[in-house]
Amino acid sequence: MRADSVGIIGGTGWLGGALAQALLETAFVGAGRLFLSNRSGSHPLADAGAQFMTNNQALVDASDTVILSVRPEQFSALSVDASGKRVISLMAGVTSQAISAATGASVIVRAMPNAAVDIRQSFTPWHCASELSASDVDYVQGLLTCVGTASRVPTQDCIDYLSALSGTGPAFPALLMTALTRQAVAAGIPEEVARDAARGVVLNASQLLSTTEPQALIDSLVAYKGVTAAALQSLMNAGFEGLIGNAVQAGAEVARRGM
Ligand SMILES: NC(=O)c1ccc[n+]([C@@H]2O[C@H](COP(=O)([O-])OP(=O)(O)OC[C@H]3O[C@@H](n4cnc5c(N)ncnc54)[C@H](OP(=O)(O)O)[C@@H]3O)[C@@H](O)[C@H]2O)c1
Repeated sequence: MRADSVGIIGGTGWLGGALAQALLETAFVGAGRLFLSNRSGSHPLADAGAQFMTNNQALVDASDTVILSVRPEQFSALSVDASGKRVISLMAGVTSQAISAATGASVIVRAMPNAAVDIRQSFTPWHCASELSASDVDYVQGLLTCVGTASRVPTQDCIDYLSALSGTGPAFPALLMTALTRQAVAAGIPEEVARDAARGVVLNASQLLSTTEPQALIDSLVAYKGVTAAALQSLMNAGFEGLIGNAVQAGAEVARRGM
């Protein structure tokens, strides 16, 4: 358990609430050392060991580390003085410079988790332009790994790009699963079977990738020259990789531009 106190502004939202729950359940922060705020009133997390407040400045004053987990468009209405605090922003598309200008904080970490914080399976890249001590790096890394895995990245642009990659969480697999299901139904497969087959591929068979290198798997399947090879080759010939690249760049542009 760390001695530092943590305050999460927006700590009862989707992301902030899941992080708060994980920080308590993993005992990263002790009961009474975690502060959560929102505008609308109390929340069940207040009964699970977090201290709930509606005054953001009081939360900042009580916290060694302040986590910003409001929506990007809600940030401009937020007014706090966090000078001297370690600030970790989870907001997409809001730069460290804008956060520093609005809060007075000089140490700003931008982290980009995804919806899988709920099941503690988020990959969370993070960036900090300031020089951090080894213990600060260990602290940020430890906090973020309460909801999955985390990695420091060298530039803020990496965060904007990765917002549209890992930040999308289950979105790409959901699109793939839906496309596989619909196309199977269109090809005459009963809907329930189509759903089970698509789910089996996206959720179950993909578990093999935790122990197999994907390119090696693709190479061996293509070399096999069977049914799978024909399907993969069709996707690759149609420019699958380029389409994925364009999709992530389209999302990253929104993150770079800000919301
Ligand atoms: N959800 C994702 O998958 C995901 C992925 C990556 C990054 N993010 C980032 O995570 C951040 C939070 O997203 P979310 O999905 O968790 O949004 P959310 O569920 O809408 O949560 C936002 C929270 O902020 C609170 N809030 C808003 N203004 C406030 C203020 N002035 N003071 C205190 N609390 C305030 C809201 O509660 P009240 O309305 O009661 O005030 C709400 O609990 C966003 O910036 C987003 O870019 C989200």
